[in-house]
Amino acid sequence: MCDQALSLSDIAGSRLPLIEHAPAATVIVDAEGRIQLVNAQTEHLFGYYREELIGKPVELLIPARYHSRHVGERRSYYTDPRVRPMGVGLELYGLRKNGSEFPVEISLSPVVTRDGTFVASAIRDVTERKAFERQLQELNAELETANRAKDDFLASMSHELRTPLNAIIGFTGTLLMKLPGPLNDEQERQLGIVQSSARHLLSLINDILDLAKIESGKMELHFETVPVKEVVKDVAASLAALASEKGLEFTSSVSEDGESAVTDRRALRQILLNLTNNAIKYTENGSVRVDVRGITWNDRPAIVVRVIDTGVGIRPEDRQRLFEAFEQLEPLHTRRSEGTGLGLYLCRNLATRLGGALKMTSEYGSGSTFTLFLPKVH
Ligand SMILES: Nc1ncnc2c1ncn2[C@@H]1O[C@H](COP(=O)(O)OP(=O)(O)OP(=O)(O)O)[C@@H](O)[C@H]1O
Ligand SMILES: [Mg+2]
Repeated sequence: MCDQALSLSDIAGSRLPLIEHAPAATVIVDAEGRIQLVNAQTEHLFGYYREELIGKPVELLIPARYHSRHVGERRSYYTDPRVRPMGVGLELYGLRKNGSEFPVEISLSPVVTRDGTFVASAIRDVTERKAFERQLQELNAELETANRAKDDFLASMSHELRTPLNAIIGFTGTLLMKLPGPLNDEQERQLGIVQSSARHLLSLINDILDLAKIESGKMELHFETVPVKEVVKDVAASLAALASEKGLEFTSSVSEDGESAVTDRRALRQILLNLTNNAIKYTENGSVRVDVRGITWNDRPAIVVRVIDTGVGIRPEDRQRLFEAFEQLEPLHTRRSEGTGLGLYLCRNLATRLGGALKMTSEYGSGSTFTLFLPKVH
């Protein structure tokens, strides 16, 4: 609205439909802050007839506590009159004829006419939006509290569960070592089942504990120079039996430039353990290979760990799902391996927390490669 040829009465008199029927209340005031023009929405929003407003100070529409500030700001607007929102970051209120207030959002624009420069305010009632925002905030706060309660519960329960489990595992171990006395074959077989089930349960509980820690941001990482080669060896040693039971060829190699990195040892171990364990779990024939080397990743020195298998592979449509919590690709009744589907979710989270990334490529039916990128320096 900037037409030197028009006078304000032209604008007011013709009741320009654009202004008159604008969805926002439009109020045009002169340099002294007297109302010169209002539209239909202004009458509706503030509860005045327009005759009651024309010629009156615009402060009539503003709660008294804002008057002194408003007069000052109105004057300073004229030193730099341009289109802009009013009172950015402030809560603004309008005042109705009946004395009630309502939250508003206002944008200002200069109107240059033959009679001088006026200021047009477009005023929107944001009561509904504010109420909605408040509701959303309350809901968010409730969700946060509930979420924290869940995390605390999981963390303390996992801890409570682990203590007796460690006793079960420990004493089963001594029984199996026949320290308290001899066992017959059947007793030994059954105790073996007790032990492996207890171990499985312990690893589930550990996963859940990690999940709770990660999600509540309480997972603490200790960055130090980690001998990657040793970690790989250690993981390989603990899974070698599993691979050989299935008749798989299982190898690991660490090149010289991949031998160490500044990272969290426990997190790295856990990622490697799950990726390698998965590779063995989901491979029936062929081989599992762990390969570590140094590379440049995102312009930084990094190590790349590849866990390569010749197993069942992963369908393209399942790739997204893979990294979600509690997702397992096999439907329950045909599932060939136990687990919770937390492994990859935790691995990806840990990889991200370590400043790295976890990616996957696969050919369905012939194998998968999981690739972990880790920066060498923190
Ligand atoms: N190397 C792989 N080859 C084929 N499928 C895989 C491979 N790794 C993972 N998957 C699929 O991805 C799913 C999710 O893996 P994830 O490690 O998260 O869970 P899980 O191994 O089933 O259970 P958990 O690790 O919690 O004990 C698996 O159930 C499996 O269907
Ligand atoms: Mg797994």
